[in-house]
Order: sequence, then structure tokens, then C-alpha cells
Amino acid sequence: MIKKYSIKELLNKGKDVINKKVLVEGWIRSFRYSIFIILNDGSTIKNLQIILSKKLEKKIYKKITIGTSIQVIGTVIKSIGKKQYIELLSSDITIYESVNSSILQKSILQPKKHSFEKIREQAHLRFRTNIFSCVMRIRHHIAFCIHKYFHINDFFYIHTPIITTLNCEGSGKMFQITTMDFKKNPIDFTKDFFKCKTYLSVSGQLEAETAALGLGKVYTFGPVFRAENSNTSRHLSEFWMIEPEIAFYNLEENINLAEDFLKFIIKYILNKNIEDLFFLNEYFKKWNKNDKKYLLDKLYLILKFPFKRISYTEAIKILLKEEKNKNIKFFHPIIWGMDLQSEHEQYLVNKYFKIPVIIFDYPSCIKAFYMRINNDGKTVRAMDILFPEIGEIIGGSQREERYEILLQRIKDTNTDKNKLWWYLDTRRFGSVPHSGFGLGFDRLVQFITGMNNIRDVIPFPRTPNNAEF
Ligand code: 4AD
Ligand code: MG
Repeated sequence: MIKKYSIKELLNKGKDVINKKVLVEGWIRSFRYSIFIILNDGSTIKNLQIILSKKLEKKIYKKITIGTSIQVIGTVIKSIGKKQYIELLSSDITIYESVNSSILQKSILQPKKHSFEKIREQAHLRFRTNIFSCVMRIRHHIAFCIHKYFHINDFFYIHTPIITTLNCEGSGKMFQITTMDFKKNPIDFTKDFFKCKTYLSVSGQLEAETAALGLGKVYTFGPVFRAENSNTSRHLSEFWMIEPEIAFYNLEENINLAEDFLKFIIKYILNKNIEDLFFLNEYFKKWNKNDKKYLLDKLYLILKFPFKRISYTEAIKILLKEEKNKNIKFFHPIIWGMDLQSEHEQYLVNKYFKIPVIIFDYPSCIKAFYMRINNDGKTVRAMDILFPEIGEIIGGSQREERYEILLQRIKDTNTDKNKLWWYLDTRRFGSVPHSGFGLGFDRLVQFITGMNNIRDVIPFPRTPNNAEF
């Protein structure tokens, strides 16, 4: 039996496999001097060089085009070239399917620079490109190490529902789900599948809170859905969120956890995915000439310093001062009580502090009902973590654990109390201070891979006007 290897396994084994007969499979990336096939199977950014040992029949030879899928049996030899340590001297090649050169020309597999927009239009083929395969491998490792972080820190993974009757965040639109045929039926949702109006969830937080109030430390990691018409490079209509929730944690402990968590992930990826990161680093060096800071530098910078922590009120003071002293004009005027806009966040992170910034104690009027009211009566124990380029990457808070105050907040924010009876009930059965946050998974992948558009870090993006594939 000839042993089958992935290209990653084979290259990692290096000298241990020299002179061994092996089998590999993959897709042809290029064919040089009619003798070298450059093969990739997705397991690594690196390719394997195959040397054709004998003259192939003309029939087969013609089929060796870019994108063609093949199986190769051959003997591993030490490479004479400097680029790679080993290569494969082929003895047998089987062609699974050859790509016709006329369709190849129109596809993103054609080896030349394609725009990200064009690559996105062929989302089903982009797993074969160097850049997107790097992003996908990194995305996998980030997801894996998130579970690892929580597991080693004694958190339990909770699956919260995707179908819900609630809008946890209060703001923004939700996707409604129904099995009703509106043409046949008048709109009466008591006749619908769940006998009420249901939606795709915007967050698993409220359910996660109930779990934390029994299990102590929990987290969710699942898809969430928001029907906002935000056509930006940082918004998706369907994205993945990680939401830890911790009993007996105050806001400061919550912030400490969030910072430690983000640094753990970045350290892990720098350690495990350096080949992919290095490829992306070089790619951006080549194509983003105006960008002076390279990807790896940006990642190391996150690890170097503690994140800057300031209150919302301090942030407003800084922005007002900068506007006055440096003659900067923001599009959105700065007034205490407003929601910070992307331009303000970017200014604080990229220009003023030049490191990630954590803003806490936001005005209650711009935040959701569940956040704990401070003694000043005007602000809540909320926190946002802002990263360079991406802006808000985490949003979290200490939760309102006091029954009466929570009830009042629910009324004040016009939230439907009846649907929240079970949530309120947790505040009557041994309520405790507790906190949590939500990390936008795709935004984190975007930051770590340095991609400009969030649509290029998720396999099949869902955005306004687009649900193809
Ligand atoms: O700030 P958000 O709305 O917070 C919540 O949903 C809370 N329930 C979290 C919690 O306390 N458990 O969303 C959290 C994060 C944001 O910081 C951002 O990174 C990401 O989710 N996010 C989006 N990512 C991609 N596309 C969108 N449309 C996003 N909206 C939010
Ligand atoms: Mg937020």
C-alpha cells in the first residue's frame, strides 16, 4: 500500500520521507518548462513541486492545465532548487478532471491579479486562491482557539436558540421567520408555526445570562442575524458572535477578561499560522503601497501594550479638545449623549492613542435595557473595545441584576415586558452581579488577516441585496 499524504504532512516530514514512494492529490497551480507541475491541495499555503519523470502521452499532456485535479504517485527526492526542501519525482499521474482553457480564462483561477470584487463573484471557487485559502485556514484556527481559551478557563459552551421572539439589543431590524403563505391567509400570527411572531436572533445573550446564573461561566458561539441596511466593509447581515457571560463578575473583571481573551487569540495565531500570516503580510506589502504598517507589525502592536481604558465622558472631552485645538472638523457634531460614530472611534484609536481603546460608562439613553445603571443615574456599565481600522470589535456590559430597576428600564425603553417574564424571573431567584460581552467573530478575522472588507473573511457573505450561493 502506498501511503497517501496531504501536502502539508509531506512537507513537514521533509527528510524523513526522502526516497519513499507516496501518493498525493491536489489541483495544478502551474505547469513550467513542460516538466514541473506545481500542486496545491489546500492543506497549506505551500505548493509541492512534481517532476514529470517520463514523457507523457500527448493526450495526457494536453490535459495538464491550471485548476486540473490530479493524483500523483511518486518518489520523494531532495530538491536541487533552493525554494523547497523536497519534491516529488512522479511515476504515475491520474487526471480526475481537466479544466478547459477557455473557461479557465474567465475564472479567478487564471493566475493573475483579480480584484476582490471579482473574486467574491466566484465565491464557490475562491477557496482555491492563495489569499482566500489563507484567510479560511486562519479563520478555522481562530475558532478553534476560542473554544480552547474558554475550555481551559472552565467555561461551558451553551447553544442558545436561533429562533426567538425577542430583540435583545432593542435597536435595529430583525429578520422575521414564518411558514405562512400571505397570499392565502390574512396576517394572523397566532396561526403561524409557533403561534406568534418569531425572528432570527440578533444575540444569544439573554439566554446565556440565565445559563450563567446556574453554571457560573458560559459562552455562546453561533450565527446571529441583523436586518440593518448597513452596506459597509464591516457589516454583515449574518455573522458569528462569541458571547461569554460570567456570574459574580463586575465590569472591570469583564474588561480584563476581554483584553486577555483577545491577546490570547492573537498570540495563538501568530504562533500557529505564521506561514499564512506571512503570505498575507507580503501580499499587502506588495499591493497596499500606501499602508506603511504591515500586518505582522499591527498584530504585534496589539500584544505590546495594555489597552487604553477611558470613560465615555473622557472620550467626549478629548474629542472636543482636539476639535478646538487641532482644527479638526468631524462630520457628526460632538455632544455628550450621542452615540460615538465611526469617525470619532477611528480618531481616538488611530490618531490619538494609537493602540486599542476601551470606552466604558456610556449614556444610558444610547444603550440596551439590560445594562446596569450607575449611581449617577445617567450612565450604564457598558464597555466597547475599539481596534485600529475595524473600530468596535467587542461590545459588553455589567448586567442590571436588581429586579425593580431592571423592570423600570424595560418600561423606559419600551421593551415588551411580557415576553421577558423569564428573564426578569432570574432576578428573583438569587440574582447576582454578572457581566459579559459579544465579540464579532468576522470582525476579528478581518483584523487578524488584514482584509479590507468583511465579505472576504466569511465563505458566503450575506449583505443587503445579496444572498447568492
Ligand atoms: O455590540 P453588539 O450589538 O452587542 C451585543 O449583541 C451584546 N448582546 C453582546 C453581549 O454583551 N453579550 O455586538 C457585539 C459585536 C460588535 O462589537 C461587533 O464586533 C459585532 O458584534 N457586530 C457585527 N459584526 C458584523 N456585522 C454586523 N452587522 C455586526 N454588528 C455587530
Ligand atoms: Mg455594540
